[in-house]
Amino acid sequence: MINDTTATTVQNPQTDAPASMPADDIADAQDLADVLATSFRLFARGVADRRSAFRTVTVATVGADAAPRIRTMVLRRFDAAARCLMLHTDLRSGKLTDIAHTPRVAVHVYDARAKLQIRLSAKAQMHAGDAVARAAWLASAPSSRANYAISPAPGSEVIEPPQAPVPDEAGYTNFAVIAVTFDTLEWLYLHHSGHRRARFSWADGNALHSTWLVP
Ligand SMILES: Cc1cc2nc3c(=O)[nH]c(=O)nc-3n(C[C@H](O)[C@H](O)[C@H](O)COP(=O)(O)O)c2cc1C
Repeated sequence: MINDTTATTVQNPQTDAPASMPADDIADAQDLADVLATSFRLFARGVADRRSAFRTVTVATVGADAAPRIRTMVLRRFDAAARCLMLHTDLRSGKLTDIAHTPRVAVHVYDARAKLQIRLSAKAQMHAGDAVARAAWLASAPSSRANYAISPAPGSEVIEPPQAPVPDEAGYTNFAVIAVTFDTLEWLYLHHSGHRRARFSWADGNALHSTWLVP
């Protein structure tokens, strides 16, 4: 949930980024392979550095009524090899109702300092009560776990704002991990000497197709 104190891990150490990545590094990306590697490093950095713009991502789902819904979520883990973002949420939340109906989701990040937008097209899978959820729960800080003990369910109408929940192991029954595996990454870099845009897509067999696009 919203609390940002959860311990987070980076699955692939090769994608670990330095504490800060100047915008110049992005401008310096010479070719499509560089652009992709830099993009992956930015997601890895989002997990490790709470000041990074990639610390939070905007996730769009489609409801059963076909209406799009978007919300901010904390990026908890990034597995570069699997092209997977791990997010935490409440099992009772509306976004999981959407994902159960339509697993396709979109993810958006805009890093204003780097003048960079990344958009992902992805498929979401929910984990609750399994090994993935348990490991994520055990890695979470008590203050983060407390969010899941809130009652009634998130989104319920109430007469007044409820008391802040206290850490409670019972919250685990409401805890879920959303694994977001992307098959398309679109990159847009704004630059005074000419904007640059690129798309990376992975076919079913994981074959990568990379191309520049007209910005
Ligand atoms: C900075 C920020 C970080 C947030 N992080 C999360 C998060 O990691 N998980 C989550 O479920 N909601 C998070 N939220 C709340 C969501 O944006 C959203 O309001 C809530 O999850 C309900 O969404 P839903 O009704 O679409 O399920 C965050 C909100 C903000 C402003």
